[in-house]
Amino acid sequence: MTRTRLVVGNWKMNPATVDEAVALASARRGTPHAGVEFGIAPPAIALVAVAEALRGSDVMIFAQDVHWAEKGAYTGQTAASMLRGIAHGSIVGHSEVRRDQGDDDARVAAKATAALRAGLRVIFCLGESLDQRKRGETDAVLARQVRDGIGAIDRAALGTSPARRLAIAYEPIWAIGTGEAATAAQASAAVTRIRAELGRAGIDGDAVPVLYGGSVTADNAAEFARADGVDGALVGGASLKQEEFTAIVGAFS
Ligand code: PGA
Repeated sequence: MTRTRLVVGNWKMNPATVDEAVALASARRGTPHAGVEFGIAPPAIALVAVAEALRGSDVMIFAQDVHWAEKGAYTGQTAASMLRGIAHGSIVGHSEVRRDQGDDDARVAAKATAALRAGLRVIFCLGESLDQRKRGETDAVLARQVRDGIGAIDRAALGTSPARRLAIAYEPIWAIGTGEAATAAQASAAVTRIRAELGRAGIDGDAVPVLYGGSVTADNAAEFARADGVDGALVGGASLKQEEFTAIVGAFS
């Protein structure tokens, strides 16, 4: 099964200004990426300016989050329809959003449904906490997140070939921003588990790209690129460094 490879830089609440975001995005033009799709996820406030700066380039643009409702009284939020023509897709379910905004599996599913209905691609994040891993609950947590999250995405919105529209990012919470990445073996085991659960949810897991995220760097990217079942990376801190992100994209190409 040949799956699309994808590397996306999640800038989170960085850099400090929209002007800096535009400069950082512009520097991504011309990044060599044979055999791998790559993109950036700038903060919402910078999306329009970044899209303008990257017009005509093949750098994909993702929002970091999207709301589940079409429109309405949701202060501070972004509707999926507002991203049309600006972003290719959106991340949903990032653990920092789950933590800070109270997203649960059902809400992440609703966000994914809204994004897909608007014609956007979705990067669906999931992963266990350190406590859950220590208690031996990793498999159960991943199974629940796939079943109650991805499995609850509206089937019509997902369409008949989800592989083009949906990517999953396995991001163990203990590895995010800690400098302590999972091992390639841990990532592969989790990815295998996720694919099995996708099958139980009636989705062809072998067709859907699964990325690894959590302290990916230029030094460990090649290891994840070789890891069984891992199709790319969601990169936080290292994606803000021009040469390092280029090297990570290169490792997957
Ligand atoms: P990190 O973040 O690479 O800084 O660990 C990854 C993510 O949160 O997507």
